[in-house]
Amino acid sequence: MKILMVCLGNICRSPMAEGILRAKSTHLGIEVDSAGTSSYHYGENPDVRAVHTLRKKGINISNLIARQFTTADFDAFDIIFTMDKSNYDNVIALARSNQDKQKVRMLVNELHPGSNGEVPDPYFGGDQGFEDVYNLIDEATDKFLMRLQNEVQ
Ligand code: 4NP
Repeated sequence: MKILMVCLGNICRSPMAEGILRAKSTHLGIEVDSAGTSSYHYGENPDVRAVHTLRKKGINISNLIARQFTTADFDAFDIIFTMDKSNYDNVIALARSNQDKQKVRMLVNELHPGSNGEVPDPYFGGDQGFEDVYNLIDEATDKFLMRLQNEVQ
């Protein structure tokens, strides 16, 4: 299974989500990548605050490189998790078919089904925002994997 994490810049939330889910799921044969709906930070490594937050948890995302989401990602991935409603709308707007659209989900709905809750953008805030992003993504990815493993059984 291949999973893509999507946010706006691909330097804060989605590379954190990529690193967090990868750390929990490589042994399950799950592949994880991330992308941004914008090209603002194309080619850049993750924000140092994102890198530091995950380094404290034993996860290294310092070598990831930002890229922009493209329609080819609908073909390459089974599930596309967006961090907020704006990312969701931007990805859905690029969908070519209902099959594409069915791959797109809000990540926080894994934790709080049907809530359409968001992973708040931490870019313009302080370090606590990155810690909050970590905790939310950690819980949401735990729930996702729990549900996935129950489906397989
Ligand atoms: P991200 O955070 O979408 O979680 O990577 C942001 C990074 C950059 C900007 C906005 C959000 N920006 O406006 O440059």
